[in-house]
Formats: sequence, C-alpha cells, structure tokens
Amino acid sequence: MAASPDDSASSKHKPVLLRETIQQLKLSPHLIVVDGTVGAGGHSQQIIKQIGDQGQLIGLDRDPMMLQFSRQKLHQNNITLRQSSYADLPEVLNELNIPGVDRILVDLGLSSDQLEHAERGFGFSTSGRLDMRFDESRGESASELINTLTRHELVQIFEDFGEEKYSSSITDAILKRRTQSPIETVQDLNHVVESAIPETVLRQSDKHPATRVYQALRIAVNNELQHVQDALTQTFPDCLNLNGILVVITFHSLEDRLVKRAFQDQRQWENLTTKPITPRPNEQKMNPRSRSAKLRAAKLISKNPQN
Ligand SMILES: C[S@@+](CC[C@H](N)C(=O)[O-])C[C@H]1O[C@@H](n2cnc3c(N)ncnc32)[C@H](O)[C@@H]1O
Repeated sequence: MAASPDDSASSKHKPVLLRETIQQLKLSPHLIVVDGTVGAGGHSQQIIKQIGDQGQLIGLDRDPMMLQFSRQKLHQNNITLRQSSYADLPEVLNELNIPGVDRILVDLGLSSDQLEHAERGFGFSTSGRLDMRFDESRGESASELINTLTRHELVQIFEDFGEEKYSSSITDAILKRRTQSPIETVQDLNHVVESAIPETVLRQSDKHPATRVYQALRIAVNNELQHVQDALTQTFPDCLNLNGILVVITFHSLEDRLVKRAFQDQRQWENLTTKPITPRPNEQKMNPRSRSAKLRAAKLISKNPQN
C-alpha cells in the first residue's frame, strides 16, 4: 500500500535556498515552469506567485505521498501535478501538448516529510520497515537489496554512493546477520552498522554511524544518479526552450559533481553560477538540513551542440 502523509497531514519541509532559487530562475509572467521535484510545493508556491495567472506550472514527483502534500497548496487552474520522474518530462510535456518550457527547477534528495515518515525507512532515526522507494509500487525495497545482493555488489554501493570508509566491514556484518535472519527494519540495519564500526570511531563521530549507508542505499534503491545524469545530458536540454534556465539544488557531492560537469559544457550551457550558491548562516541555523545544499544554475544556449 502506498504511504500517505502522517496524522497531522501538513508538511514539515522547509524549502531550501528559496530566495536564491527564485532569483536564479529570473521569473516573469507568462513563463512555463517545471518544478521537477515538487515535493510539498514550497518552491512552487513562490514560483506561481511570480508567473501569475498567464504562466503555467508543471510539478512532478516520483512519490505519490509528496503529491498529496503539494495538492494541498497548489490548486490553481494553471498548475498540473503528475507522478513522474523529472527524467520522464518529455512524456509529460507530450501529453500536455507543450513543445518546450522556459524554466526547470530540481531540488534533489529527500523531503523532511519522507525522512521522518515512520514507515518509509528513509532515516536511521525512525523505526519502520526498510523500504526507501520513492514509488512503493515498483522496484525493489532497501531490505530486498540488503538481503539478496552479493558481497561485491553491497561493497560497491556503500563505496560508490556513500563514500563509506567501512564498506567492507559493514557488508561482512550484513552477510553474517543474513545467515541468522533477514534485515527488515531500520533498527535491524542500525544495529548491524554499529556492530561493524570501531568503538573509538563511534564515540568520536558527530554524525550517526549509519548516515552514509542510508544515503547509499537510497540512491541505489531509486537509481537516483542515473535519473540525474539522464536528465542533465538529454531530458533537460531537449525540453528547455533556447535561453531557458535550469536550476539544480543538490545535497551531496556525487550529485553536485554531475551538475558541475554538465554545466562545464560551454557549447550547450552558459554557466550562471561560477561557484555554487550555499545557504547563508541564518538559513543553516534555522534549517540544519540545508547545510549541505548547493545551488547551480545555467542557461541553455544550444540544443544540439554537436551540429
Ligand atoms: C527536497 S524534496 C523537494 C522539496 C520541494 N522543493 C519543496 O519545496 O517542498 C525532493 C523531492 O524530490 C522527489 N524526487 C526525487 N527524485 C525524483 C525524480 N527522479 N523525479 C521526480 N521527483 C523526485 C522526492 O520524492 C522529494 O519529494
């Protein structure tokens, strides 16, 4: 069954770099804007104010629970919300008979509502089953991956997507535990990870020891880097009108590296942010989750740079 918002049903997510995002999008009335990760609609609420009744906003999210949140805030006639990956934007635009769009925003990663939802398994501080799929109707859950992948595959995931120093010993602890009983809940995984990391490291670290493992598994479960890479190199250049602007907010270095590299292609993009924009100290204080955010923006200057 698909997850629905927790009891109080109002979003707890604070949009990150909101003012900076709106500035970089350079919005004006009549524009067609895609919010590729609409989440709880925090950024979109501001976007719709700027593009007015004559503009058009298309909001996408892979997670139906997040669309329930955004529907509470975004109900004007010129807004279309769809369950879709931003990497599948061409299909959505085709269906809506829109040949191209003027602005695209993607605010990658997780919403606080997903992270804190007791039954999604996205965060080490919840207590639910280990699922981590944005779309629970397809693909394999985190517990299915953990309980079936080979040693080599698990080490690779923790190294590549989590840059985890203790990948091998964590994987060995997972394999040992699997011989006794499957790892099914957040608590199961937390215990296994804690058992694999040296005591001294556990004591000295200011982060939860499983932080990188959760990040890595979530990226693997949702094939996140592939969606980012496909979108940057194919989907967004195809869907943006010439001189259209793309704004991307990332939360870890793996994604930021892909964005930085894509925007370095000067035949296709004019880079509008030579250095990434990061949250000001005040935002970091008010919203600690914003700390790792990096915003990059670029203008599309060629649709087919090879020609
Ligand atoms: C950080 S939140 C966005 C928050 C939103 N900007 C706001 O202000 O409420 C990221 C969202 O992206 C969604 N998401 C992740 N990967 C996606 C993808 N490939 N396509 C569409 N949505 C995706 C997640 O489900 C989540 O709701």
